[in-house]
Amino acid sequence: MARYGKTALAAALMVVPAAAVMADPPPPPPYQMRAAAPAGDRLAAGRDGRALFENHCGYCHLTFGMGTNLLVKQRLAVGASPATALLANRDDLTAAYVHAIVRMGKGAMPPQTRVDVTDRELDSIAAWLGRGK
Ligand code: HEC
Repeated sequence: MARYGKTALAAALMVVPAAAVMADPPPPPPYQMRAAAPAGDRLAAGRDGRALFENHCGYCHLTFGMGTNLLVKQRLAVGASPATALLANRDDLTAAYVHAIVRMGKGAMPPQTRVDVTDRELDSIAAWLGRGK
Protein backbone atom coordinates (compact mmCIF):
# COMPACT_ATOMS: atom_id res chain seq x y z
CA MET A 1 0.00 0.00 0.00
CA ALA A 2 2.79 2.36 0.95
CA ARG A 3 4.58 1.36 -2.22
CA TYR A 4 1.49 2.15 -4.31
CA GLY A 5 1.16 5.54 -2.57
CA LYS A 6 4.71 6.47 -3.54
CA THR A 7 4.10 5.50 -7.15
CA ALA A 8 0.92 7.56 -7.29
CA LEU A 9 2.72 10.54 -5.78
CA ALA A 10 5.55 10.26 -8.27
CA ALA A 11 3.02 10.06 -11.14
CA ALA A 12 1.17 13.13 -9.82
CA LEU A 13 4.41 15.11 -9.58
CA MET A 14 5.17 14.33 -13.21
CA VAL A 15 1.67 15.17 -14.48
CA VAL A 16 1.04 18.46 -12.64
CA PRO A 17 3.97 20.49 -14.06
CA ALA A 18 3.21 19.26 -17.58
CA ALA A 19 -0.42 20.43 -17.23
CA ALA A 20 0.72 23.80 -15.85
CA VAL A 21 3.02 24.35 -18.82
CA MET A 22 0.37 23.40 -21.39
CA ALA A 23 -2.44 25.63 -20.08
CA ASP A 24 -2.47 29.28 -21.15
CA PRO A 25 -1.94 31.57 -18.17
CA PRO A 26 -5.04 33.62 -17.34
CA PRO A 27 -4.88 37.36 -18.10
CA PRO A 28 -4.24 39.65 -15.13
CA PRO A 29 -7.40 41.00 -13.50
CA PRO A 30 -8.47 44.47 -14.73
CA TYR A 31 -7.25 46.20 -11.57
CA GLN A 32 -3.70 45.05 -12.31
CA MET A 33 -3.76 46.54 -15.80
CA ARG A 34 -2.06 49.93 -15.84
CA ALA A 35 -4.27 52.61 -17.40
CA ALA A 36 -2.96 53.83 -20.77
CA ALA A 37 -0.77 56.92 -20.70
CA PRO A 38 -2.70 59.92 -21.99
CA ALA A 39 -1.39 61.30 -25.28
CA GLY A 40 0.54 64.55 -25.22
CA ASP A 41 3.84 66.18 -24.30
CA ARG A 42 5.05 64.88 -20.92
CA LEU A 43 6.69 68.24 -20.26
CA ALA A 44 3.58 70.33 -20.98
CA ALA A 45 1.58 72.05 -18.22
CA GLY A 46 -2.16 71.85 -17.68
CA ARG A 47 -2.88 68.28 -18.79
CA ASP A 48 -5.68 65.99 -17.57
CA GLY A 49 -4.74 65.31 -13.94
CA ARG A 50 -7.17 62.46 -13.57
CA ALA A 51 -5.87 60.58 -16.63
CA LEU A 52 -2.28 61.13 -15.51
CA PHE A 53 -3.15 59.93 -11.99
CA GLU A 54 -4.76 56.77 -13.34
CA ASN A 55 -1.71 56.02 -15.47
CA HIS A 56 1.07 56.92 -13.01
CA CYS A 57 -0.51 56.24 -9.63
CA GLY A 58 -3.50 54.02 -10.40
CA TYR A 59 -1.79 50.66 -10.16
CA CYS A 60 -1.36 51.40 -6.44
CA HIS A 61 -4.11 53.96 -5.78
CA LEU A 62 -7.18 52.67 -7.64
CA THR A 63 -9.44 49.91 -6.30
CA PHE A 64 -7.44 46.87 -5.11
CA GLY A 65 -4.13 48.74 -5.42
CA MET A 66 -1.66 48.13 -2.62
CA GLY A 67 -1.70 51.84 -1.72
CA THR A 68 -5.48 51.77 -1.38
CA ASN A 69 -5.30 48.61 0.72
CA LEU A 70 -2.75 50.11 3.12
CA LEU A 71 -4.60 53.41 3.33
CA VAL A 72 -7.86 51.65 4.30
CA LYS A 73 -6.18 50.66 7.56
CA GLN A 74 -4.82 54.18 8.13
CA ARG A 75 -8.12 55.88 7.34
CA LEU A 76 -10.05 53.58 9.70
CA ALA A 77 -7.45 54.25 12.43
CA VAL A 78 -8.21 57.98 12.29
CA GLY A 79 -11.96 57.40 12.21
CA ALA A 80 -12.37 58.30 8.53
CA SER A 81 -14.52 56.43 6.02
CA PRO A 82 -12.68 53.55 4.30
CA ALA A 83 -13.88 55.06 1.00
CA THR A 84 -11.31 57.81 1.59
CA ALA A 85 -8.55 55.23 1.07
CA LEU A 86 -9.10 56.08 -2.59
CA LEU A 87 -7.14 59.31 -2.96
CA ALA A 88 -9.71 60.59 -5.46
CA ASN A 89 -12.30 60.59 -2.64
CA ARG A 90 -10.18 62.75 -0.31
CA ASP A 91 -11.05 66.41 0.23
CA ASP A 92 -8.19 67.17 2.63
CA LEU A 93 -5.23 66.78 0.25
CA THR A 94 -3.36 69.88 -0.91
CA ALA A 95 -1.20 70.15 -4.00
CA ALA A 96 1.86 70.85 -1.83
CA TYR A 97 1.26 67.68 0.23
CA VAL A 98 0.86 65.55 -2.89
CA HIS A 99 4.08 67.00 -4.35
CA ALA A 100 6.00 66.21 -1.15
CA ILE A 101 4.72 62.63 -0.83
CA VAL A 102 5.33 61.81 -4.50
CA ARG A 103 8.92 63.07 -4.50
CA MET A 104 9.92 61.81 -1.05
CA GLY A 105 7.74 58.70 -0.70
CA LYS A 106 5.98 57.73 2.52
CA GLY A 107 6.10 54.43 4.36
CA ALA A 108 5.53 51.71 1.79
CA MET A 109 5.20 54.23 -1.09
CA PRO A 110 8.46 54.55 -3.03
CA PRO A 111 9.54 58.05 -4.12
CA GLN A 112 8.56 58.77 -7.72
CA THR A 113 11.37 60.31 -9.75
CA ARG A 114 11.02 62.96 -12.47
CA VAL A 115 11.41 60.11 -14.97
CA ASP A 116 8.43 58.29 -13.45
CA VAL A 117 6.36 61.48 -13.26
CA THR A 118 7.64 64.75 -14.75
CA ASP A 119 7.30 67.99 -12.77
CA ARG A 120 4.52 69.23 -15.07
CA GLU A 121 2.68 65.88 -14.85
CA LEU A 122 2.92 66.08 -11.06
CA ASP A 123 1.55 69.64 -11.11
CA SER A 124 -1.49 68.40 -13.05
CA ILE A 125 -2.01 65.39 -10.77
CA ALA A 126 -1.57 67.45 -7.58
CA ALA A 127 -3.99 70.14 -8.79
CA TRP A 128 -6.60 67.48 -9.53
CA LEU A 129 -6.13 65.53 -6.26
CA GLY A 130 -5.92 68.73 -4.22
CA ARG A 131 -9.10 70.08 -5.84
CA GLY A 132 -7.41 73.43 -6.27
CA LYS A 133 -6.10 73.63 -2.66
C1 HEC B 1 4.14 51.49 -5.82
C2 HEC B 1 2.84 51.90 -5.33
C3 HEC B 1 2.53 53.37 -5.30
C4 HEC B 1 2.61 54.28 -6.32
C5 HEC B 1 3.09 54.07 -7.75
C6 HEC B 1 2.11 55.52 -5.80
N1 HEC B 1 1.78 55.37 -4.48
FE1 HEC B 1 1.06 56.83 -3.28
N2 HEC B 1 1.05 55.54 -1.69
C7 HEC B 1 1.37 54.22 -1.77
C8 HEC B 1 1.27 53.64 -0.46
C9 HEC B 1 1.54 52.19 -0.10
C10 HEC B 1 0.87 54.67 0.41
C11 HEC B 1 0.66 54.58 1.93
C12 HEC B 1 2.04 54.81 2.51
C13 HEC B 1 2.14 54.55 3.99
O1 HEC B 1 1.71 55.43 4.78
O2 HEC B 1 2.68 53.50 4.35
C14 HEC B 1 0.75 55.86 -0.40
C15 HEC B 1 0.39 57.10 0.09
C16 HEC B 1 0.18 58.22 -0.69
C17 HEC B 1 -0.26 59.51 -0.19
C18 HEC B 1 -0.47 59.89 1.28
C19 HEC B 1 -1.89 59.69 1.71
C20 HEC B 1 -2.07 60.09 3.17
O3 HEC B 1 -3.16 59.83 3.71
O4 HEC B 1 -1.15 60.65 3.79
C21 HEC B 1 -0.38 60.34 -1.27
C22 HEC B 1 -0.82 61.80 -1.25
C23 HEC B 1 -0.01 59.57 -2.45
N3 HEC B 1 0.32 58.29 -2.05
C24 HEC B 1 -0.03 60.06 -3.72
C25 HEC B 1 0.46 59.35 -4.84
C26 HEC B 1 0.49 59.89 -6.18
C27 HEC B 1 -0.04 61.26 -6.58
C28 HEC B 1 1.08 58.95 -6.96
C29 HEC B 1 1.41 59.02 -8.43
C30 HEC B 1 2.24 60.10 -8.86
C31 HEC B 1 1.39 57.81 -6.12
N4 HEC B 1 0.99 58.10 -4.84
C32 HEC B 1 1.98 56.65 -6.56
C33 HEC B 1 1.77 53.51 -2.90
C34 HEC B 1 2.00 54.09 -4.14
